[in-house]
Amino acid sequence: MNQNLNRRDFIKIGTAAGAALLMPPIIRSQEASGSSDDLNIALIGAGAQGEVLLNACLKSKGIRFRAVCDIWADYNLKKSVNLLKKYGHQVNGYEDYRDMLAKEKDLDGVIVATPDFWHAPHAIACLEAGIHVYCEKEMSNTLAGARRMVEAAKRTGKLLQIGHQRRSNPRYIHAYEKIIKASKALGRITTINGQWNRAVQPDIGWPKKYAIPPQILRKYGFESMHQFRNWRWFKGLGGGAIIDLGSHQIDIFNWFLEAQPKSVMASGGTDYYDKKDHQWYDTVLAIYEYETKEGMVRAFYQTLTTNSSQGYFENFMGDQGTLNISESASRGGVYREPSAPDWQKWVDLGYLLAPKEETKPEPGVVLDVRETVAPPQHGIPVDFNDPYHKPHLENFFNAIRGKEKLNCPAEIGYETAVTVLKVNEAVETGRKLTFSPNEFFI
Ligand SMILES: NC(=O)c1ccc[n+]([C@@H]2O[C@H](COP(=O)([O-])OP(=O)(O)OC[C@H]3O[C@@H](n4cnc5c(N)ncnc54)[C@H](O)[C@@H]3O)[C@@H](O)[C@H]2O)c1
Repeated sequence: MNQNLNRRDFIKIGTAAGAALLMPPIIRSQEASGSSDDLNIALIGAGAQGEVLLNACLKSKGIRFRAVCDIWADYNLKKSVNLLKKYGHQVNGYEDYRDMLAKEKDLDGVIVATPDFWHAPHAIACLEAGIHVYCEKEMSNTLAGARRMVEAAKRTGKLLQIGHQRRSNPRYIHAYEKIIKASKALGRITTINGQWNRAVQPDIGWPKKYAIPPQILRKYGFESMHQFRNWRWFKGLGGGAIIDLGSHQIDIFNWFLEAQPKSVMASGGTDYYDKKDHQWYDTVLAIYEYETKEGMVRAFYQTLTTNSSQGYFENFMGDQGTLNISESASRGGVYREPSAPDWQKWVDLGYLLAPKEETKPEPGVVLDVRETVAPPQHGIPVDFNDPYHKPHLENFFNAIRGKEKLNCPAEIGYETAVTVLKVNEAVETGRKLTFSPNEFFI
């Protein structure tokens, strides 16, 4: 974008005619081709995640960005409009979503990637305007907000996909369909453990010359630039690490078990950071109990924001094997218990990779009979090298086109919100909390 444009010029931005002609062929081929499958899309919230989603969309065919809305007009809005212009999209920039919805009359879908407390107002306004919505997780920072979103989707008949992108990840789909369900290779799942551990992170700063004026911040619910940048840690805006990180993985617990938990207990606190800046807990350890058709499953989940040991993964443990899976493709394997039936047939069917060579003890070394030897590792036979969010966004776009069903519709997002939001309550009350079965449904 021309840096000399004034603010008003900027807010209504059109792409220079002919820009597409100047683009290299590889970029042009990814643009909307003018077919009936082309979709007009807008983004609300062009921050860190908005940028990730934009980049994933730019690799998808038939997506035509028409508008971006972000209250950080001189910075994030400008950056994303520039990016889209570079790729030949005729895109208008807006500071206020109401303005955008009043002016943009041919949108098929809106992607919402604003801080959690804005999800319900943004998603509902778009649905009411007759537009399908892809809304980032956590669906809402409150159950009341999440509930209103489900009701709005039902009332308007529009699609509402929640951004739990593992639900569309081919490795996760394979693990669920083939390893857990079709082969039942793990046997009876009794225990889960999952985690997301992150290293100590300083507060997120901002380039001082681009600070948003205080009256604009207040208009959109932020007290200061510091709070605006670090919204995750503030009550009323986000939900801390358990909501931010845990929601992704606890969603997988429910999905793979095909169940909702009966209870949760948790311990957590702001143990490391200053409580003034981290109103939500920097450390949370939670235990869920699930009564599945096959029996009791206990699921442990931990999120640390002070140490990154072992990163993030989910571990499903059954009496015949273990599935270790992570969004990070460098991690993951399936391990057969020594007493389980042979898995060669699952290898032959392509459900599992052949096991890696077992590490044998040095000749002459006799293992203590009480030693537990790690079982051999089978790989998950799915190569997935696309951006993590691309399949979930494409599932949303194909659902708009009438070609697929949503992988994470509002009702599923709501079940996960009920499951996860209760952890903060359990920490606060210091009690084991129970879920009633109808709590998960609207
Ligand atoms: N699915 C995932 O893997 C994943 C990963 C990271 C973040 N997220 C989610 O994405 C969302 C955004 O997170 P982030 O890390 O990008 O935050 P961020 O603070 O980097 O970006 C938020 C953006 O929203 C803008 N914004 C704030 N209020 C607004 C309003 N009322 N109208 C328009 N724009 C507004 C801000 O100016 C900023 O550009 C959160 O809900 C987060 O949980 C999801």
